[in-house]
Amino acid sequence: MTRNIIIDTDPGQDDAVAILLALSSPEVNVLGITAVAGNVPLALTQKNARIVCELAGRPDTLVFAGCDAPLNRPLVTAEHVHGKTGLDGPQLAAPTMPLQDQHAVDWIIETLRAAPANSVTLCPLGPLTNIATAITRAPDIKSAIEEIVLMGGGFFEGGNITPTAEFNIYVDPDAADIVFTSGLPLTVMPLDVTHKALTTKPRIDAFRAMGTEVGHMTAEWTDFFERFDMEKYGSEGAPLHDPCVIAYLIRPDLFTGRHINVEIETKSELTLGMTVADWWRVTDRAPNCTFMGDIDADGFFALLAERLARLG
Ligand code: RIB
Ligand code: CA
Repeated sequence: MTRNIIIDTDPGQDDAVAILLALSSPEVNVLGITAVAGNVPLALTQKNARIVCELAGRPDTLVFAGCDAPLNRPLVTAEHVHGKTGLDGPQLAAPTMPLQDQHAVDWIIETLRAAPANSVTLCPLGPLTNIATAITRAPDIKSAIEEIVLMGGGFFEGGNITPTAEFNIYVDPDAADIVFTSGLPLTVMPLDVTHKALTTKPRIDAFRAMGTEVGHMTAEWTDFFERFDMEKYGSEGAPLHDPCVIAYLIRPDLFTGRHINVEIETKSELTLGMTVADWWRVTDRAPNCTFMGDIDADGFFALLAERLARLG
């Protein structure tokens, strides 16, 4: 059964690999890609999204620019991880495919209003500003949303931008709070999972060995992207965060988690953006998401390699 999805993204090398996985997998039908400010400013994330679609041989993909700043806070970016362009690593030509004129939030609302009930899965891979803006401005669109599957948060792993917060949630905690209290079916891929999906050298070599431009670019991106995490965590490779969202749609069996309550810290400057996950169910707060805790990493990378090899 093919899933209709909207990818909301802030490319980002790991977002790029997630988009490539989606565009090479028949299990998902990408209705459109909406860019949001995050890893780098919006002018770059919308450009990068188009670069990746062209790399995938899909210049027909609808790409929209959305919100250029969080709801109530100044934008925090992550060039220290992704480089100045957001896709540092290989040399990249500017995209030639068009950016759609419509604002991403308007398109999300219009698309969901025209969609049957429970027929579209939203896949946020960056700060949740676009998604929160859409469901706040048009609460009626919730009926068309089958599920939200997002990359964000962390519990056992703590944070990656502050001691307690993961980047996507930290950048726009108010947007995250709107999504986590929306009542919509929510599946969360936190650092607890993505830190187990490491781009080790054999895995990067497998991308390079494809002998395709997609394989080369993916290897170059992950080579660049991993230096930050290896320095910080001393890990053998970088966590390939965002592709976990798309892999879940294709092979949910690769992941295990718990249906628990997760709330977002939106007030304290010390723990702003923390996903307060009631993993041990010590409160009576109602469960509001499936919070993933483990991944079959070998199975995940085997899926990635098999699918990306389908692209030229
Ligand atoms: O914390 C990891 C997340 O922040 C990933 O989505 C990465 O692309 C950045 O957006
Ligand atoms: Ca991202």
